[in-house]
Amino acid sequence: MTSPILVTGGTGTLGRHVVARLREAGWDVRVLSRRTRAPAEGIEYVTGDLLGDEGIQAAVDGAGIIVHCAGSSKGDDEATRNLVRAASRARAQHLVYISVVGADRIPVISAVDRAMFGYFAAKLAAERAVAGSGLPWTTLRAAQFHDLVLKVAQQTAKLPVIPVPAGFRFQPVDAGEVAARLVELALGTPAGLAPDMAGPRMYLLADLIRGYLRASRKHRLMVAVRLPGQAARAVRAGANLAPDRAVGHRTWEDFLAERVVQPATINRARS
Ligand SMILES: NC(=O)c1ccc[n+]([C@@H]2O[C@H](COP(=O)([O-])OP(=O)(O)OC[C@H]3O[C@@H](n4cnc5c(N)ncnc54)[C@H](OP(=O)(O)O)[C@@H]3O)[C@@H](O)[C@H]2O)c1
Repeated sequence: MTSPILVTGGTGTLGRHVVARLREAGWDVRVLSRRTRAPAEGIEYVTGDLLGDEGIQAAVDGAGIIVHCAGSSKGDDEATRNLVRAASRARAQHLVYISVVGADRIPVISAVDRAMFGYFAAKLAAERAVAGSGLPWTTLRAAQFHDLVLKVAQQTAKLPVIPVPAGFRFQPVDAGEVAARLVELALGTPAGLAPDMAGPRMYLLADLIRGYLRASRKHRLMVAVRLPGQAARAVRAGANLAPDRAVGHRTWEDFLAERVVQPATINRARS
């Protein structure tokens, strides 16, 4: 019997794709989640909290490969340090981490930077915890997922006027494609820092939101806002982009067509 692969965050946007791909490849999977869940075919759930440092040892024990996809807007550094400690005790064979493009290029110095871009500093600290773990490791930095951009567009479209950070560009990537690459890396030889992964095209944030508004037949005014601080300046200069690593295939337009246009058409046809 082979040991299961642990996927932290296996219930999230990325993690769900990772779990599905590992199952397709015939692997047993263990998922760490804060909520208790019933097992499914080839999937066992272990309840635990990476930030609270609870239930982690039970999750890592006996899992040779760990794919660390759990994350949130705050605390990924501490959560990852807690995971690394337990994984080291368990002598994991391969620790695989998902980080974000620009983690090392977006300076988080002032309180203003920290308030808006603390996520990037936490990802960098988490990367360092993984690299310094003494375990064989691989880290993949990915650009923003389409799903995240959609969430931002949906949230901001609730406002009558949408404030849009001036000069911000994104290169959104498909979470399923990132998951496929992560699984490939997880099943391969530990690679250290892997080449970045970003989507096929670059867009101004305003154009991404405009695309969403068009697809959902909404009309909103947008107003450009110049964000202060060094981190925002770095993003305006493209620190979150990877133009030479535009390896994703699915475009924002493809994603919108499937996730926003088609469901709306089906709903209109039904009513
Ligand atoms: N979204 C993006 O655009 C993007 C881009 C680059 C990199 N990433 C990275 O990719 C990873 C996954 O992102 P995502 O968008 O898939 O996230 P998501 O959909 O928000 O899912 C987050 C996952 O993390 C788990 N989680 C959160 N806090 C936890 C804690 N304290 N203990 C245990 N589990 C916890 C959640 O599990 P339960 O709720 O079941 O406990 C959930 O499965 C993150 O590390 C993120 O930084 C994301």
